[in-house]
Amino acid sequence: MPHPRPQFDTDVAGQENEETDSAFGGSIRGSETSTLDSDILRYRVENGRTYHSYAIIFWTLVLEGDLYSAPIKNPQDVLDVETGTGIWAIDVADMIPSAIVKGIDLSPIQPSWIPPNVRFEVDDYNKEREHTNRFDLIHSREILGTVPDWVQFYKKALDSRFSALRPGGWMDSTEPLIHINSIHGPVAKDHPFNIWTTQFATISEQTGLLWDVAPHLKRWMEEAGFVNVTEKVVRVAIGKWPKAQKQKELGAWNQLRLDMGFGDFTERRMRNVLNWQNDEIMILVAKIRASVQNSKEGLFMHLYHVYGQKPGE
Ligand SMILES: C[S@@+](CC[C@H](N)C(=O)[O-])C[C@H]1O[C@@H](n2cnc3c(N)ncnc32)[C@H](O)[C@@H]1O
Repeated sequence: MPHPRPQFDTDVAGQENEETDSAFGGSIRGSETSTLDSDILRYRVENGRTYHSYAIIFWTLVLEGDLYSAPIKNPQDVLDVETGTGIWAIDVADMIPSAIVKGIDLSPIQPSWIPPNVRFEVDDYNKEREHTNRFDLIHSREILGTVPDWVQFYKKALDSRFSALRPGGWMDSTEPLIHINSIHGPVAKDHPFNIWTTQFATISEQTGLLWDVAPHLKRWMEEAGFVNVTEKVVRVAIGKWPKAQKQKELGAWNQLRLDMGFGDFTERRMRNVLNWQNDEIMILVAKIRASVQNSKEGLFMHLYHVYGQKPGE
C-alpha cells in the first residue's frame, strides 16, 4: 500500500547545505559526546533509575516536554498499553501525582522502585476483563510488530469488555516510520537500512504482525470508531548533522538510542522467523550501527503521533 505523503508539523531535519552542519560528521561517541554522556549520568543519579535514560530524554525532546499529544489536561485514569520498561507510565505518574497510571505488559521488566500512583500488571492486553469504561487516556508507543490487527486493537479501547476509555476519553499512539531517508537523496536499495526494511516486510508476512504501521494509524483509528482523529508527523535526524541546535540535540539522542537498541529487537526476529545465522545477523546489525553512527550520511526518520477521541461526550 502506498504511503500517504506526510504533513510535517515539525521540520526537524532541515535542508541540505542550508541547515547541515558540515563541521560535524562523526558519531556521538567521539570527543563531542562529553555533554551527552554527563547528561545521561546526571539523569540517572537524579532519578535513581538506571534504565534507558537516553530514551526518556529523546521522547521528552520530541514532544518538547509533553508526554502525549492528545488534547487532554490532567487525565486521572491512564493506561499505557505494552508499557515495556514502564518509563512513560512512570513519567506521567510523576507529572500528575493525582492520576493513577497503569502499565500492562507481557514481560515483568518494569522497575520495582516506582511512584506510588503507578501500577504495573504482567498481562495480555488482548484479554477480556471485567472493567467498565474507565480510562481518560490510553497510550501506546513503539509497539510495531506486536499487534495482529490494529483496527481490532483500537476497537478494544472503545469496548467495555476490555480496558476501555470513558466516553470523551483519548487514545494516543506514537510509532516510527520504518523507512529511512537521507538529505543527500534516495537511500540506495542495498543500504543496510533498506535490507533491514525488506527483511522486516518478510517477517510481517510470516508472523502476521505488521512493522510498517505508522502511516496507517490514523485510518485504522477512524475505522475503529474514534472521532477527532489527528495525525502529527515529526521529522527527526539520525546524528548531529543538523545546524540548528535543537535538531542537532534531538538527532544526537536519536542516534544514541538507535545505536544502543537496534540489535535487541532485530536479532531475535531474524533468527527465529527468518532462520538467519548469528554471523549474518551480526554483520547486518554492525553495518546498520555504523550507518547510524555516521552523521555524514545525513539520515533522518519520521515519527507519527496520532490521537483520537471516544465518541459520546
Ligand atoms: C518495544 S516494547 C514497548 C516500549 C514502550 N511502549 C516504550 O515506549 O518504552 C513492546 C512491548 O510490548 C509487549 N507486548 C507485546 N504483545 C503484548 C500484549 N499482547 N499485551 C501486553 N504486552 C505486549 C512486549 O512484552 C514488549 O515489552
